[in-house]
Amino acid sequence: MQRRKLVVGNWKMHGVAADLAEALAIAEAASAFEQVDVGLCLPATLIERAARALPRLHIGSQDLHHADKGAHTGCVCAAMLLDAGASMAIVGHSERRQAQSENDEEVRAKAEAGLGAALAVILCVGESLDVREAGEAVATVQRQLDASLPRDNSVGKLSIAYEPIWAIGSGRTATCEDIGEMHVALRQRLVAAFGDAGEGVRILYGGSVKAANAAEIFSVDDVDGALVGGASLKAADFVPIIEAAARAG
Ligand code: PGA
Repeated sequence: MQRRKLVVGNWKMHGVAADLAEALAIAEAASAFEQVDVGLCLPATLIERAARALPRLHIGSQDLHHADKGAHTGCVCAAMLLDAGASMAIVGHSERRQAQSENDEEVRAKAEAGLGAALAVILCVGESLDVREAGEAVATVQRQLDASLPRDNSVGKLSIAYEPIWAIGSGRTATCEDIGEMHVALRQRLVAAFGDAGEGVRILYGGSVKAANAAEIFSVDDVDGALVGGASLKAADFVPIIEAAARAG
């Protein structure tokens, strides 16, 4: 099945108002590649300004709380993100699974909350180096996906990001063979969970994607785009990745 490519930048804890010039440059360049969906998941403090200034980009958050309101100091819920102009959210990023001890059940609740509010949700999964070296990567990530997937069938706006933890910010990427094997294995789980609708869910790769390796990664079957950290902060680094996605079709 042909799926539109999706390329999303994750700015993590980078960016103040002055950096919106880079986001603007990304938005302007991205408009030349209409066959690719492009998003930027920004620090919460920038979402409203970015959504106003860049109406043609999907602006998202890097997390959300699963509840719709309540005594959750420091948290932001889906309705607040929509109110600020966001249209997407990342859930279950490995940095949050590790530093905030988020488990699969919480990630699932966040995915359900985001989808329920009509946000596009990017649900992250990925294995540690120990698991990869033990030869257990595929089975482990399949289990993680099964446990993190939303239980209802509103998967139209769901994407998965396969991000091997050891490849994030490390300059190391998985081999195309390993990426292909994992994406096929994740597709099987999506189809098992959602039937035909599982075929339409995009599976992104993430982990040290950059201009130099993007074309090769996008040439792998079942890679429907990328979640990009470090190389999404500057238009000069990010735009060639969008261009590679456009070329891959
Ligand atoms: P990276 O980050 O591209 O800097 O490796 C990817 C991510 O964490 O989403």
